[in-house]
Amino acid sequence: MDHETSTGHVTRKAVLRAALAAGMAAPAVLMGVPALARTLTAGEAAPALTPECDDGDDPTPPQTEGPYFKPNSPLRTSLLESGTVGVRLTVSGYVFGLACRPIAGVLLDFWQADTNGAYDNTGFRFRGHQFTDAQGAFKLTTIVPGLYPGRTRHIHVKLQAPGRPVLTTQLYFPNEPRNNTDTIFDPRLLMTVRDTGGAREAAFDFVLNVLQTPGPSPTPTATATTQPPGGTWAAGTAYRAGDTVTYGGPGYVCLQAHTAQAGWEPPNVPALWRPR
Ligand SMILES: [Fe+2]
Repeated sequence: MDHETSTGHVTRKAVLRAALAAGMAAPAVLMGVPALARTLTAGEAAPALTPECDDGDDPTPPQTEGPYFKPNSPLRTSLLESGTVGVRLTVSGYVFGLACRPIAGVLLDFWQADTNGAYDNTGFRFRGHQFTDAQGAFKLTTIVPGLYPGRTRHIHVKLQAPGRPVLTTQLYFPNEPRNNTDTIFDPRLLMTVRDTGGAREAAFDFVLNVLQTPGPSPTPTATATTQPPGGTWAAGTAYRAGDTVTYGGPGYVCLQAHTAQAGWEPPNVPALWRPR
């Protein structure tokens, strides 16, 4: 077992998640929640320094974006394409706010290297964004990223709760030799990873710097806009990258395909809209 394991923390987090999930989802739904199952598995390695969603002051730390981010990634939970080479990997978990409540509708934009350590800077291979579901859960299907010079193994991600600033960070794999020499590596961003017959299942729960009122049920943290409504932007509309709208006077260009909802008005979500 590696040195990051801390049974006490696993137990506390497991109890927390079990209570959270029990209060918000039907048993049939729970059976399909990998993160919960993972935290209840005895003996699984868990990073002791992973932000604990228990005291309201330890959001997931930010990390450098690096040179390879591209906006306008496709909306998809699987980055696998026909002919994709590499060890299959799923990454699942929840996105919490500071009061340990899951956040629905959080944008997660993932990008990573292919199995040879190369980024696709002309197209969108191994790039994709998705949104947390009503339970605040996400699941990414991909491959284990390859190594490239100067870095340990990692996956990049940007997260944005509705109406909140973007968190840019990276996720890491336990027991990687280069974790010890990569100066960007942060053990608080270690996923738990297990082998499942040649594939890997990873889990990680994010904690965003979003104030919440403690309570039993998840509530999207849509913030009221400070601009007077008006313009062509409309909640419920499916926008595509390149679409243009007006909102409160100024015009905006859509950066990522999404269905608009309250709290995602253009001035509030720079990951989705930029001023024209
Ligand atoms: Fe990278």
